[in-house]
Amino acid sequence: MRNITVIGTGYVGLVTGTCFADLGNRVVCLDIDEAKINLLNSGGLPIYEPGLEEVVRRNVKAKRLSFTTSYVEGLKNSEFVFIAVGTPEGVDGEADLRYVRMAARSLAEVMEHPLIIVNKSTVPVGTGDWVADIVNKYKKVDVEFAVVSNPEFLREGSAISDFLSPDRVVLGSLSQEAAEKVAQLYLSLRTPIVITDLRTAEMIKYASNAFLANRISFINEIANICEALGADVKEVAVGMGYDKRIGHHFLDAGVGYGGSCFPKDVKALTHMAAIHGRHPQLLRSIMEINRHQRRLVIQKLRTLLGSLQDKTIGLLGLAFKPNTDDIRESPAVEIAHLLMNEGAFVKGYDPVAMGVATRVTPEIELAEDPYDLAKGSDAVVVITDWNEFKHLDMVRLKTLMKQPVMVDGRNIYEPQAMKAAGFTYRGMGRGYNR
Ligand SMILES: NC(=O)c1ccc[n+]([C@@H]2O[C@H](COP(=O)([O-])OP(=O)(O)OC[C@H]3O[C@@H](n4cnc5c(N)ncnc54)[C@H](O)[C@@H]3O)[C@@H](O)[C@H]2O)c1
Repeated sequence: MRNITVIGTGYVGLVTGTCFADLGNRVVCLDIDEAKINLLNSGGLPIYEPGLEEVVRRNVKAKRLSFTTSYVEGLKNSEFVFIAVGTPEGVDGEADLRYVRMAARSLAEVMEHPLIIVNKSTVPVGTGDWVADIVNKYKKVDVEFAVVSNPEFLREGSAISDFLSPDRVVLGSLSQEAAEKVAQLYLSLRTPIVITDLRTAEMIKYASNAFLANRISFINEIANICEALGADVKEVAVGMGYDKRIGHHFLDAGVGYGGSCFPKDVKALTHMAAIHGRHPQLLRSIMEINRHQRRLVIQKLRTLLGSLQDKTIGLLGLAFKPNTDDIRESPAVEIAHLLMNEGAFVKGYDPVAMGVATRVTPEIELAEDPYDLAKGSDAVVVITDWNEFKHLDMVRLKTLMKQPVMVDGRNIYEPQAMKAAGFTYRGMGRGYNR
């Protein structure tokens, strides 16, 4: 059993802390957001993540997991401090590191015994070096510490199993001893552990996310060519994916990637490259194609409906992907704004992201369920491929709509079946059925 502190109790921090507690460690999750900590201390959960509530409850009950806003209390017995604060997009596409700086300074000021500081936030290459500088500058007691980079690869929606069964754990440090101590925390997961230097570990995270975003933009580019030439991208992806060198993952054409990671991470990597005099053309194309996919939805609607002014468009799904309530950088948000700019009324429905949507995008009128969304709509656009959308009663949906127009931004329906149900249907890159 180890004593671990996790700074930042968001999607990554809460899952990390909870899972480390479940592995038998004593964990304190620390956040400056009092409302979040109060909610956790009263048994609530600030985010939706399948299975998380039960694991949190079990570990709180076993007294292995606790929550605080106090750095003094949080670091009292700590041997490992994980930094898992947000690193959102800055004004120029760079990662905004103010929360990492604040966390490093706050922990340095209360540090009274040797610590291993583990950076789990996604941070630009070189950040680990200056985190050490900040800690040296602000520490009040002369104690030893080491900085280890341990980027996180979990996916919202399957975060617990991703954390507990990762494809690999990446650790980077200038101290082999510190990296090996952090490796011990993961040993029971029986997963490959890559130990390297700080900068290389930081780059592995960015390169991985950029590669996955690249696959999505690649298949979207192929989808657009399919559409022009009459081929079906869904079947193209299946045919490609059987090639072991390619694989099936991340080859779903649609309205593009969103969320709190890919958009900002591809941008931040591009920024890093550019300010060091490199020309990241591929990264720029990934972002351009992704942006284009969202605009394509508007073009499709315009082709089908004519002017969008006064039209009512229903967005089926608001979260950036299924099984999460996260709508950060969700295609739904940008598509809604593009539609509103053309004078359309936008309604939305999502199985779990409605609460978040009310706060973040109050301009989208929320519907009670997919049928309520369809009521009076001139078109429905599928934004998120939630399972519950895959088997809707299409006859009922159609009779409720003003016009039976469906733009399937995730290709979850079959064009022939939709046509047979009486819809004017457009998928993304579906060849003859475009
Ligand atoms: N969300 C994901 O799926 C995911 C996956 C892998 C990596 N990451 C990376 O992990 C990091 C965290 O992402 P997230 O989605 O969990 O963010 P989040 O916004 O959900 O949570 C961040 C938390 O940090 C807290 N915080 C900010 N400054 C603080 C400080 N000085 N002291 C204590 N707490 C502070 C905030 O109040 C917030 O609760 C980011 O760098 C992100 O890129 C995220």
